[in-house]
Amino acid sequence: MKKKYLVIGNPIEHSLSPKLHNEWLKKNNINACYEKKKLQNEDIKNLILDLKNKKIDGINVTVPFKKIIIPYLDELSIEAKNTQSVNTIYIKNSKIVGHNTDIEGFKASMENTKFDTTSKKVLILGAGGVVPSIILALLELNVSKITVTNRTKKKAEDLKFFFKNIEIVEWGHIPNFDIIINATSLGLNKNDIIDLNFPKILQNKFFYDVIYNPPETNFLKMGRKLGNKTKNGKMMFILQASAAFKIWHGIEPEINKDIINLLEND
Ligand code: ATR
Repeated sequence: MKKKYLVIGNPIEHSLSPKLHNEWLKKNNINACYEKKKLQNEDIKNLILDLKNKKIDGINVTVPFKKIIIPYLDELSIEAKNTQSVNTIYIKNSKIVGHNTDIEGFKASMENTKFDTTSKKVLILGAGGVVPSIILALLELNVSKITVTNRTKKKAEDLKFFFKNIEIVEWGHIPNFDIIINATSLGLNKNDIIDLNFPKILQNKFFYDVIYNPPETNFLKMGRKLGNKTKNGKMMFILQASAAFKIWHGIEPEINKDIINLLEND
């Protein structure tokens, strides 16, 4: 029987997950489809019932449901537990399991750049849903220090509950760093500017933006112009999707130029 997979979120119109997964399903001759579904909080219960009744075989979860969905699940992976964030749901021994592949998506994307993260100082801008995953990945990448700054300081402070060793600084304060990561939504609109006072001289640093559309945010443009290495969130997005695909289908999908271009033409 044809299997069915879904990505849920709100908004969801712009999700590129269906494009990516359907292409991989086709390439691997898997009899399944992957759709997107805009959800309201009150729809979650029925969605989980559909999973239990095998009407749906797996789910990707995006903003704003990555945390909200947790109480509806039977089990969490260590990764999902430690980040309180679920982006992939699968069924194992009739149990509904929540997992988080954003962590390995970020980690592998960083490893792909060949930038040596060992003992590096990292500054994260933002404290939203994806930040715990980034912090966990950075710890696995052996960075020496993680500082978080967020417009709403309380949200950054709350992260300390799970990650005792991170430092929080006021929004607007830019401490010394080797790697800076934009994890805010500033940049999704082409004209968004992150209004922070960056030092005039910044070289050989690493600027990472979780955003991949537009491909070069003003944040990355500035980093590049100052003479730093930059990377957008495209590989993170593809790698988190590939990790979910592997869990559901047992196959590691190929990431080639065609796949990368799929996301570019949008
Ligand atoms: P959520 O907070 O629901 O998880 P998100 O999209 O994951 O949503 O996170 C948005 C991030 O972008 C937050 O860190 C947010 O800062 P606040 O916690 O202060 O809201 C940040 N952000 C969004 N718009 C911003 C702006 N105009 N200036 C600074 N930070 C902004």
